[in-house]
Amino acid sequence: MANKETKLKKTLGLLDTTALSVGAIIGGGIFVVIGITAGIAGSALVISMMIASLVALFTALSFSELAKWQPVEGSVYEYAHQLISPFSGFLAGWMWIISNTFIGAAVSIGFAYYLSAAIPSLPTKIVASALVLIFTIINFIGVHKSARFNTLLVIVKLFALLIFIIVGAFYITPSNFEPFSPINTGVLFGAVYVFFAYAGFARAAVVAEEVKNSNRNVPRAMLYSLGISTAIYVLVGFVAVGLIGAPELANSNSPLIDAISVTGNQLVIEIVSIGGLIATASVLLTAILGVSRMTYSMGRRRDLPQTLSKLHTKFCTPYYSIIIIGAIMAVLVLFFDLTRVVAISAFASLFYYALANIAAIKLKNRKRIKQKLVSLAGLVSCLIMLSIILVVSPDSWLFGVSCLAIGSIYYFLRNRQKNTIKINKNN
Ligand code: ALA
Repeated sequence: MANKETKLKKTLGLLDTTALSVGAIIGGGIFVVIGITAGIAGSALVISMMIASLVALFTALSFSELAKWQPVEGSVYEYAHQLISPFSGFLAGWMWIISNTFIGAAVSIGFAYYLSAAIPSLPTKIVASALVLIFTIINFIGVHKSARFNTLLVIVKLFALLIFIIVGAFYITPSNFEPFSPINTGVLFGAVYVFFAYAGFARAAVVAEEVKNSNRNVPRAMLYSLGISTAIYVLVGFVAVGLIGAPELANSNSPLIDAISVTGNQLVIEIVSIGGLIATASVLLTAILGVSRMTYSMGRRRDLPQTLSKLHTKFCTPYYSIIIIGAIMAVLVLFFDLTRVVAISAFASLFYYALANIAAIKLKNRKRIKQKLVSLAGLVSCLIMLSIILVVSPDSWLFGVSCLAIGSIYYFLRNRQKNTIKINKNN
C-alpha cells in the first residue's frame, strides 16, 4: 500500500495498463465458468454476460474516480480505510483476500479440467492442488512478471479466443439457440456466476501509482479492458451456444474445447486448449501474488498478524503470507466444487465492490452529481447481485457471511487488545 517515503516508478503506459487489466480479467471465467452460466441462463447466456458487464462498468467508473482522487498503489482496502472507516477498510481487504483466494482455487480447478481434456485419466482435484503448490513455490522465490511478459500472455489468450470465434462462427447451428428466452430469472441468476469472468477489472487502479499520466490512463485502461473483454465474451458466448447448445456446454468441464471440437479441426482444438491452460494459470499466478501482497499490507498496518508482513531474507517475498495462502488454496480445491468456489468468490468481490462504490460516493466532489449517481447505481447493482447469491446458492452466501463475521470478530478482538496495550503503556 502507499508508503509515503518510497515512490514507485511510473513505467506503465496506456497499452501496458490495459494489457495488465485484460490479463487479470480473462481466465477461468470465459473458458470454464461459461458452462455453469449456460446451465442456468440457457441459450440467452450472452444477456447474462451483458448484465454482469454493466455491474462491472458502474463499479469501474467508481474506481476511476477513486484512482483520480488518489492514485496510490493499493486498492479498495486503502480507499475504504480513508473514505469510510478503518473497519470498512479492514473488511474490504479481508473480503479481497477471500475473493482472490477463491478465484485462485477456481482457476486451478479450471486448469485441471483443461489438462484432463488432453490427458483424460488425470485426477483433477489432485492436479489442481499440485498446481497451486507449484505456483506457491514460484511466488515464494519471487515472480517478476514484467509488463512485456504479461502482454505476451494476454496476446496468447486473446488469440485463442479470436480463433475460437472466427473458426467456430462457420459451424454454428441456428437451432442450438432454441428455445431462446432472454427475459427470465435464469438470465439474471446466470449473471452472478459469469460476473466471476469480469473480476480483475479494477487492476489498473491497484497499480495506479506506477502508471504514467494516471489521471487519464487508469480510467481509460479500465474502460478499454472492460470493453475488450465484454466484446470477446459476448462473441465467444454466442459462438459457443451456436456450436453445441447451452445444455451441452453446461455438461462440460472444458466447454470451449467441447464446443470447438464440432469443427473437427485438431489445430484449432489445440490452440483453444492451450489458451485455456495459459489463461487459468496466469490468473492463478496473479491471484497468489495479489493475496500475499494484500495480507502483507494488512499485516504491516497490524490489521492482520504482523508475521504476515515478514519478508524472506533471501527472496524478499512475504513468505508467511505466501505459504499460508498457497496451503489454503490447495486444500480448498480438494473439498469445494467449482460452482461453489465461483459463487463464494463472487460474493466476496461484490461485497468489496459495494464498499468501493460507497467510498466513491463519499468523495468530496459535490459538483459531480452524475458520478455520484453512477456510484449509487454501482452500489445498488452490487447489492442486487449479492441478494441473488442468497437465492441461487444459499450455502455460498452463508459461507460469505460467515467470513464477514469471522473477520469482524477478529477485528474487534484485535482492537481491544491494542487498546489494552495502550492503556497499560500509559499507566
Ligand atoms: N476474471 C478472472 C477469470 O475469469 C477471475 O479467471
